[in-house]
Parts: sequence; C-alpha cells; structure tokens
Amino acid sequence: MIIDVVTLFPSMFSGVAGESILKRAQEQGQVKINLINLRDYSRDKHKKVDAPPYGGGPGMVIMAEPVFDAVEDLRKKGREDSFLVLLTPGGVRFDQTLAQELSKQKGLILLCGHYEGFDERVSQGLSPLEVSIGDYVLTGGEIPAMVLLDSVSRLVPGVLGSKESLLEESFTSGALEYPQYTRPQEVRGLKVPEVLVSGDHEKVAEWREEKSKERTEERRPDLAAKKKSKKQFRQL
Ligand code: 6GU
Repeated sequence: MIIDVVTLFPSMFSGVAGESILKRAQEQGQVKINLINLRDYSRDKHKKVDAPPYGGGPGMVIMAEPVFDAVEDLRKKGREDSFLVLLTPGGVRFDQTLAQELSKQKGLILLCGHYEGFDERVSQGLSPLEVSIGDYVLTGGEIPAMVLLDSVSRLVPGVLGSKESLLEESFTSGALEYPQYTRPQEVRGLKVPEVLVSGDHEKVAEWREEKSKERTEERRPDLAAKKKSKKQFRQL
C-alpha cells in the first residue's frame, strides 16, 4: 500500500514512520509512506498556503488551490485509484472497522488540515472521506493522520509477524483485552494470578475470557452492549 501524506509539517512524521513496525513494513516493501509538503504547491512567492477567512473570525484557512494541485499531481503520478481522506474534527469517527476497510485500498492520500481548517471547496471539489479520531481538539490533522497510518498499516497483509498476530485483539473481537503478566512472578508483593502459572491451558483460556468480559463491561459498557446485540442478532 502506498500512503501519501499532504501536510505543512512533513518532519512531524519521521519518528512514527522511521521506527518499529512501520519502519520494517517500508523496508519489506509492504507499505510506502510518501510525504508531500503542501507549501511546495503554493502559488505565491512567499510560499503562503493560508489566508484569513471570508466573513471574518479568528485564525487562518488553508487555500483550496494548493490542495487541488497537490492531489492532481499525485493522481498523475500513478495514484489514480488512491482513496482520499481528509483529517478534520468534523469528520466521521475513526474506528477499527474503518481501519479494516481502508487497509484493503491500494493507496491512501491523507490531507492534514491545520489552523482553522481547509477552504470548504476542497471538500466540494475532491469529495474526500472526512475523518476525525475522537471528540477532542488537536492543533492539526498530523497526529490524526499518524494514528490512521499506524492502525491501517499494521492491517496490511504481511506487516505483522506471527508474534504480533491480529487475533484476540481489543476491538477486533469487540471486547477489551485480558491483562498480561511477565517475569518475575512477584513484583513489590504483587503476584501473578495462580491460574497463569498452573500450566492448565483450558483454565487459562477461561480466565482470560472472563477477565476480558469483566473489563469490557466495567470500562466500556458501550462496547459490551454492542457485542451483546451482535450475538443476539446472530442467534436469530
Ligand atoms: Cl482529524 N483534527 C483535529 N485538528 N483535531 C481532531 C481531529 C482531527 N480528530 C480529533 N480531533
């Protein structure tokens, strides 16, 4: 999958793209992350890409033309079929289901807004899917783009090794994960639950399922309710 990121701050992405699983995915050729500086598409001698809003009000708005030009350039460079996403707090809420859908695409173009957002004609002209990562305000779309990039990349076939398998994960199963423990068996008087060192695999599996259910009901009653209604629907 090729992921193009159109942003005013490409250097913000070097940490996320240059470490760990995303680094390996790029080295193995499963994911390519291509950073595009929106400023390169400014039509202005001062490289400006923003201007005050018509009608007045605080902040600056990103002009539509540089965004049109950047996307048009990408389309000409082989990204005809890439799926266009615009990161904005006013978009649809990002979740694991959307991550799974996006991971099936050949390519993504991520548009990161900043300041008071994009000129509305970007949405009118390009019809991107507008996506938000949650109900809080960030200073720009870069961190949301990184969230999307990370969660989508790890779903691309071959990106995760067997050790990092996709099975038994929070949200994929509709429940939160059970607690994990590692060496040593006692830390500051806190012991590993007996069942996990019993060697009884069936008991371990039962315990984990119970803990997972308990956690989900306590911390995320919304997820627990969703899972229950799904189960009931399957039984019809
Ligand atoms: Cl996509 N952008 C900004 N600026 N803030 C957000 C967001 C996006 N998603 C949640 N908060």
